[in-house]
Amino acid sequence: MMKSRKYMAGLVFGAALMYIPTTAFILQSKSQENTPAVIRFVQPADQGKFSWNSLINYAIAVTDKEDGSSDYNEIPAGEVLLKVQYLADSSKLKNQLASLARENREVPALTYLMQSNCFTCHAVKNKLIGPAFELISKRYPHTELSAGQLVQKVIHGSTGVWGSTPMPPHPDISQEQLKEIVLWILTRSADPDICYYPGLEGAFRTREYPGKSGNKGVYLLTASYTDKGLKNTPHSSKRVSKTILLKPAGLP
Ligand code: HEC
Repeated sequence: MMKSRKYMAGLVFGAALMYIPTTAFILQSKSQENTPAVIRFVQPADQGKFSWNSLINYAIAVTDKEDGSSDYNEIPAGEVLLKVQYLADSSKLKNQLASLARENREVPALTYLMQSNCFTCHAVKNKLIGPAFELISKRYPHTELSAGQLVQKVIHGSTGVWGSTPMPPHPDISQEQLKEIVLWILTRSADPDICYYPGLEGAFRTREYPGKSGNKGVYLLTASYTDKGLKNTPHSSKRVSKTILLKPAGLP
C-alpha cells in the first residue's frame, strides 16, 4: 500500500515538475515580445484651438518599457519626430487619415532619417549648416537617377554645390537606407502644408489667416518614435505614432 501511495505522489510531483517548466517557458516567451512605446502630448491638448499666424508650443513625452522614459532623458530627443500638417478642408479628415495609414510609405524613410545624424545639419524648411531639404527637392528632378547620384554625394561627402561649407562623408549608413531617405527628401519635403520637427519640445508658427475658408482648416500633429527593440533581437523594434487635432479658434 505504502509503496503505491509513494508511487502516486511521485507521479503527481513529476507531473507538477513537467508543468512548471512549461508555464515558465510560456511566461518567458511572452515577456520576450518588445513592448511598443507610448507617446503623449503634454501640450497642446487634443481637440484644442489654434490662432492664425501664432506660435504653438508643443511638448511630447515618450515612455517605453525597454528604452525608458523621456522624463529621465532615456529617450534620445533627436529620435522623436513631430509632423505638423495643415489640412485645408476638415471634411476630408477621415479620408486623409485613412490614406495616411494606408500608404505610410514614409515610415521606413523617417525611421532611417531619425536614426542617422542628418537633422543635426539639415532642417526640412530652413537652412541650418546644410541646405533645407525643401530646396534640395526643388533643385533636382524626382527620379531614381538623381536619387542615386545624391546617395553617392551623401556617402562620399559634398562641397561647393550650396556654398563653401562641406558635408562630411557618411560611409557608415547603408546605401538602401540612404536611398529611402533621399527619395523622401525629393518627394516629400517640399509639401507646403507639412513640416517636420525633430525633438521633444519646441514651437511652430501657424499660417496666416487664409480667409473664410480657414474655418474648415485643421492642424494634425503626429509625434512618432521608433524604439530600440529587444537587446540581441534584430528587427524587433517598433514604430509608434500619436496624432492629435487642433481646430481654428475663429477669426484672427
Ligand atoms: C555636418 C553637417 C551635415 C550632416 C551631418 C549632413 N549633411 Fe547633408 N549637407 C551638408 C552641407 C553643408 C551640404 C552642402 C554641401 C555642398 O554645398 O556641396 C549638404 C548637402 C546635402 C545634399 C545635397 C547634395 C548636393 O549635391 O546638392 C543632400 C541630398 C544631403 N546633404 C543629404 C544629407 C543626408 C541624407 C544626411 C544624413 C545621412 C546629411 N545630409 C547629413 C551638411 C550636412
